[in-house]
Amino acid sequence: MIAIASDHAGFHYKERVKSFLKQLNLEFKDFGTHSTDSVDYPDFAHAASEAISNGECENGIFVCGTGIGVSIVANKHKGVRAAACESVTAAELSRKHNNANVLCFGERLVGWGIAEDMIKIFLNTNFEAGRHTRRVEKIHSLTGR
Ligand code: RB5
Repeated sequence: MIAIASDHAGFHYKERVKSFLKQLNLEFKDFGTHSTDSVDYPDFAHAASEAISNGECENGIFVCGTGIGVSIVANKHKGVRAAACESVTAAELSRKHNNANVLCFGERLVGWGIAEDMIKIFLNTNFEAGRHTRRVEKIHSLTGR
């Protein structure tokens, strides 16, 4: 189950993410927002991140104006590793090296074609493990989160 969230600035892309995941026959849960009315991105990013932290969802795709705000929120949650990406290479490496479980991007910063390619590669790339395992473990071990 993929957790989906956005604020008003990412709402249109969130709706496109949902259509794209439907095409791919992938299950998702939409944590809002549900319109372009102005809201606060932490409200939605916290709810979706909590669902990843507690195991209800396996991973997530979060959108705001830049992808930055939602990623900062997500990374406050235990077990969540969110990557704000603007390129397909960054999305790929966030999986290979960081075992990222949330992809974040900005509707105001990346074209939809790039966003779609980032989603595809994020969902289809495995963590490389090896030397990266120790590093990823250290992300969590020092803070307990
Ligand atoms: C909303 O205007 C904007 O600040 C928000 O979507 C996001 O980009 C914050 O990081």
